[in-house]
Amino acid sequence: MSRVKLLDREFELSIPEETLLKAVDKVAEKMNKDLEGKNPLMVCVLNGSFMFASDLMKRLTIPCEISFVKLSSYSGTGSTGKVKELIGLNEDISGRTIVLLEDIVDTGLTIINTVEQVKQMGPADVKVATMLFKPDACKRDVKLDYVGMDIPNDFIVGYGLDYDGYGRNLKDIYTVVE
Ligand code: IMP
Repeated sequence: MSRVKLLDREFELSIPEETLLKAVDKVAEKMNKDLEGKNPLMVCVLNGSFMFASDLMKRLTIPCEISFVKLSSYSGTGSTGKVKELIGLNEDISGRTIVLLEDIVDTGLTIINTVEQVKQMGPADVKVATMLFKPDACKRDVKLDYVGMDIPNDFIVGYGLDYDGYGRNLKDIYTVVE
């Protein structure tokens, strides 16, 4: 499938599954070395990260746990602008190594807010792993410990990412056709 139509927009194939999985292999390899003996709690930020989290977890050989969180649709105002509240992280994470699993870092706002909220819960360390990163869109100073791939500043779908709810099921990534 080189093109797909979702709602009113056309998308063309841009990153095949094979390339995505090679990137996940590399992230997992690095985590297996860095996080050895740390018993990390992987925290999958839903919805977009479910495919990345699944493929990554299958490749981790170190002892680790996974938990799933969501960001509420509530928006307040915090130090970095609009704040979405992290919901679902109910376990005691004090003293733990937390690895946030994100689908994509675009402007960086979401991950900065999420890291801030997790830090308030007293973990030993908070690391960030993102499958995709748009360096040209991210003007903020974000510390990304693991990045699957850098991508251009275009709107994409697939591999968990959606356009208005659709396209998350696509195994490859597609870029919007302008
Ligand atoms: P940020 O706060 O601007 O970094 O945006 C992060 C969130 O925006 C991601 O978790 C996605 O849900 C969404 N997002 C950013 N870029 C895209 C894209 O190209 N396609 C689909 N969703 C995106």
